[in-house]
Amino acid sequence: MKKLFALITFIALTPITAWSAGGPSVALEQANIDLNNHAAIQRGAKYFVNYCMGCHSAKYVRYQLMEKVGLTTEQIKNNLIFDGGKVGGLMTNAMPEKDAAEWFGGPAPDLTLTSRIRGGEDWIYSYLKSFYTDPSRPMGVNNTVFKNVGMPNVLWELEGIKEPVYHYAVIHDGHTEKVFDHEEDAKNYIREHGKGYKLEKVVDHLEITRPGQLTSTEFDQVARDLATYLTYIAEPMKLERHSLGLWVILFLTVFTILAYMTKKEWWKAIH
Ligand code: HEC
Repeated sequence: MKKLFALITFIALTPITAWSAGGPSVALEQANIDLNNHAAIQRGAKYFVNYCMGCHSAKYVRYQLMEKVGLTTEQIKNNLIFDGGKVGGLMTNAMPEKDAAEWFGGPAPDLTLTSRIRGGEDWIYSYLKSFYTDPSRPMGVNNTVFKNVGMPNVLWELEGIKEPVYHYAVIHDGHTEKVFDHEEDAKNYIREHGKGYKLEKVVDHLEITRPGQLTSTEFDQVARDLATYLTYIAEPMKLERHSLGLWVILFLTVFTILAYMTKKEWWKAIH
């Protein structure tokens, strides 16, 4: 009985593992967010409605959720809602998926749960800081965290323009054999070694070539606030899941006890 209970508890509490779809893994920067920092969540919400909701929704949460982090109904109405929506309404947006597919090669996904789906705030923080100029892409930008992303760099005026500094990797048998700063050196190496060697251009790091309105520290704060907000809105759902889990355990426990008692009652007559 004890073992059974332990097993049920274990199964019910095992979290669903988040999948991460960032392609080949890149090192993420730490966002260092604080979910108790209500001012950061409020600022993040403001950036979100101003810079992101033209394309993205957060349709599983209501604007009203912000009352839990200190905003009044009036503040929500005046600072966060621009489309005549209701404070108690869901954070849907107006861009039809078909238009997004046409303009950006795919829909802009709903961001309510992105922080959890992508494995946490660090992914979002790093993603927002990893756009760089790439004329070969339809939007003129690429992203080191999300390769060949369809999203334009909507925060470029704040952040400035980043150019990539490339390195040149020599690939042999599917492995990186050597990395060069200059393309010529890599080519020479391949020429010396003959067939089976391939050249691959990789982004080593990014450099700001045209400053934006903010310093890089200030821009980090914007990215951090957005990561805080998006993690916060993914959080109430998490709390809901936990409380549901408790109900499941309770139900299973009561059910097990009843089944056990029934069994005892049943066999009494036979013995
Ligand atoms: C002009 C439209 C547009 C705006 C504005 C925009 N995005 Fe996007 N975003 C997209 C599109 C399109 C994608 C999908 C990219 C793809 O799949 O290649 C995307 C993808 C993302 C993703 C990755 C989602 C995932 O898990 O695949 C995140 C995170 C994101 N956007 C955050 C933001 C944030 C934060 C803002 C505001 C600062 C913002 N976006 C503003 C169009 C936009």
